[in-house]
Amino acid sequence: MKLAAASALILAICAGNACAFSTVHLSASNGLSSSALHSTAATKTYTFTKSEEIFAEAKTLMPGGVSSPVRAFKSVGGNPIVFDKVKGAYAWDVDGNKFIDYVGTWGPAILGHADDDVLDAVKKTMDKGTSFGAPCALENELAKAVIAAVPSVEMVRFTNSGTEACMGMIRLCRAYTGREKVIKFEGCYHGHADAFLVQAGSGVATLGLPDSPGVPSSATKATLCAEYNNLAQVKAIFEENKDEIAAVILEPVVGNSGFIKPDKEFLQGLRDLCTEHGAVCVFDEVMTGFRVAYGGAQSYFGVTPDLTTMGKVIGGGLPVGAYGGKKEIMAMVAPAGPMYQAGTLSGNPLAMTAGIETLKKLSADGVYEELERKSKKLVDGIVATATKYGLPISGDYAGGMFGWYFVDGPVKNFSQAAKSDSARFGKWHRMMLERGVYLAPSMYEAGFMSLAHTDEDIDRTIAIADEVMSQL
Ligand SMILES: Cc1ncc(COP(=O)(O)O)c(C=O)c1O
Repeated sequence: MKLAAASALILAICAGNACAFSTVHLSASNGLSSSALHSTAATKTYTFTKSEEIFAEAKTLMPGGVSSPVRAFKSVGGNPIVFDKVKGAYAWDVDGNKFIDYVGTWGPAILGHADDDVLDAVKKTMDKGTSFGAPCALENELAKAVIAAVPSVEMVRFTNSGTEACMGMIRLCRAYTGREKVIKFEGCYHGHADAFLVQAGSGVATLGLPDSPGVPSSATKATLCAEYNNLAQVKAIFEENKDEIAAVILEPVVGNSGFIKPDKEFLQGLRDLCTEHGAVCVFDEVMTGFRVAYGGAQSYFGVTPDLTTMGKVIGGGLPVGAYGGKKEIMAMVAPAGPMYQAGTLSGNPLAMTAGIETLKKLSADGVYEELERKSKKLVDGIVATATKYGLPISGDYAGGMFGWYFVDGPVKNFSQAAKSDSARFGKWHRMMLERGVYLAPSMYEAGFMSLAHTDEDIDRTIAIADEVMSQL
């Protein structure tokens, strides 16, 4: 075989395989060694020397070495890698290793990291100042975009994080109804405010914390918990607590116990129960908002709540949260009404700008079809690969959000998710990481697709998964 023909063959193999991360052997004499022709050699694995050094120091400076618990890799073993920079679908660590990134800074990076248009807009706004602490026209612009997109939102209050949005939201539900009890669901995470740290998902589930010490029992005694996708349980709670339930709050697609889709009848049933009992129906769309569809899970499933919380994507990678809903309810929020909630940096011009530019790009035709096509391609590929090696697996997706469990499905609630093989997940996570695929370091977290991920990235991920799964 001539060298040019051999090179063309390698390129052809590479197009559908893990080539950029693989060792392909070329020999000067005959152009191609036999190992290159046989499914390419094992993927070259990364080392993390500088990450280890920096993280060792970090542990002496910050609890667990991190600013947020799930970053710490506690449930998967080993140490986290330390990022140096991000762009598009990729992240680079301080050792110079390149990763295909499916965490996307935990959801916000839906356009891909550091999108040029978002960066340009933020730089222009930055020239005018970084914080006003006074009204700015950018708040109106982002508010109008959110109101136009999200069916339940007629008015919105911006905050600095999803946690803050959820704190404001629960106070508002109680203020509006004059009731205290709220219903949440096992494995759903609504930020780290006291009232929500009951059978919560995300880091709370990852670290196996039943409830957090420091949360006074008085703060959670009005939080009632039900099983996700179990309408009968919610009905029973309403019956047992007549005229006492202020709100039903849920992730309309769960992303904090892995990835769990709701049954449409479950969402509609909750909506109807809230209407019947005078409770506020709340979708916490901090993760799903502008992620599963432009109008969030409420437009994906066609069920409209009374209030919605948001964050992540609407800040385009800068710190933002928001809650919004019917004008009649939002009129309770200070200074229009008596329910107090405030924030020094809320409505920050940089964050508003990043959000506006992100939403502009997301409003283009076909964006969510393309995100879902790519999520499906990845999940189908991973599920097929696991099946090939006889591993139990269950996977699903919605728009730019997806997940899989190492357990036979379907997974409909947290206790089914918890049956997933955590030891296998830990090994899988480390081996994928060492080969250049950055996945969330917990089986209780969803994955995120971006517009920047290419079909080649996904093919490469599946090829690496094939190599890893053959050893699980
Ligand atoms: C559904 C949901 N609600 C609330 C939050 C809290 O948001 P933040 O981390 O911005 O405080 C999160 C965070 O992941 C979330 O996924």
